Amino acid sequence: MSASPHKDDVTGIDTTGHEWDEIRELNNPLPKWWVYSFYACIVWSFVYWIVMPAWPVFMNGAWTYTGGVIGYEQRQVVENEVAEVTAGRQHYLDQIAAQDFDTIRSNGELMEIALAGGGAAFGDNCAPCHGSGAQGSTGYPNLNDDDWLWGGSIEDIHLTLQHGIRWESDDDTRLSEMPRFLADEILTKDEVYNVADFVLAISGQAEMTESATSGAALFESQCAACHGSDGTGNRELGAPNLTDAIWLYGGDRASVVESIANARAGAMPAWGDRLDPVTVKQLALYVHSLGGGE
Ligand code: HEC
Ligand code: HEC
Repeated sequence: MSASPHKDDVTGIDTTGHEWDEIRELNNPLPKWWVYSFYACIVWSFVYWIVMPAWPVFMNGAWTYTGGVIGYEQRQVVENEVAEVTAGRQHYLDQIAAQDFDTIRSNGELMEIALAGGGAAFGDNCAPCHGSGAQGSTGYPNLNDDDWLWGGSIEDIHLTLQHGIRWESDDDTRLSEMPRFLADEILTKDEVYNVADFVLAISGQAEMTESATSGAALFESQCAACHGSDGTGNRELGAPNLTDAIWLYGGDRASVVESIANARAGAMPAWGDRLDPVTVKQLALYVHSLGGGE
């Protein structure tokens, strides 16, 4: 097994003296740089182990870890970062709270923050009724188009959001009540049909039949106060334009008859009660930006 060390003939390197079946081991020590790096790593690992959180330990009946002498904690680092971002955001929110709409809209950076905040709040609070794309559905208006019940200026939208629509607990809520013409016996069934036929005629869906013609007089006496003599609506009262092809509750005869007979009285919560003022402001900016803003 063992022979005395000597120089290997082929390579000229010393052998260690170990030999197996005449195969001898060359004495090739590890390079110095490697050895020192290795020692350095060992020393470093001890230092790191003492300084930083390292070992899991079981203490007082629960698993925890050795904390390390400098008290570094990843969680604290993340918390600090989050606090920093929040503080940065708060700065913008304060500005949104303080500035009027024109000033905010002329400030690209501020507007970007407001739209992002408004969009997020829309998804959380409004999408269940108005749809995630604000496209609306029967009874819930589309907020992308330029057909507005209560007005599409940013101030109008803000007011609508702030106080809601037909929202009892808010004294300044948007309010108007179309009578239930059949249910409250203001019109007879036939009169309701007549005036419905008139609505179908002015909205371009049907001819001006005899029934529609007799509905015209009823419309002037019963409906024009809110919907206007020409049926184009009145935003002061949230009365929709009946001459366009946009219907909140449906433009077919049965839906129009139902609207007249029993009225609809759609309601929306007053968001001023539920959300903070900055969020309501951001929502107004967001809705206004959707395409129909005036
Ligand atoms: C519970 C259902 C509901 C929710 C939630 C809701 N809305 Fe509405 N919203 C309505 C209804 C219903 C109307 C129409 C009321 C009417 O007939 O005048 C309306 C009307 C509006 C209008 C007026 C549209 C116009 O043409 O004048 C705006 C603006 C509006 N909503 C925005 C929002 C925003 C922004 C949110 C979220 C903060 C929201 N809505 C959440 C039901 C809802
Ligand atoms: C006091 C005001 C007022 C009067 C009077 C009134 N309306 Fe309305 N009308 C409204 C309002 C407000 C709405 C929207 C209701 C809602 O969103 O719930 C509406 C909705 C409608 C709708 C549904 C429109 C749609 O887009 O789906 C029809 C149809 C309609 N009215 C027809 C009439 C007719 C016909 C008369 C007369 C017989 C009449 N209204 C009288 C205020 C009025």
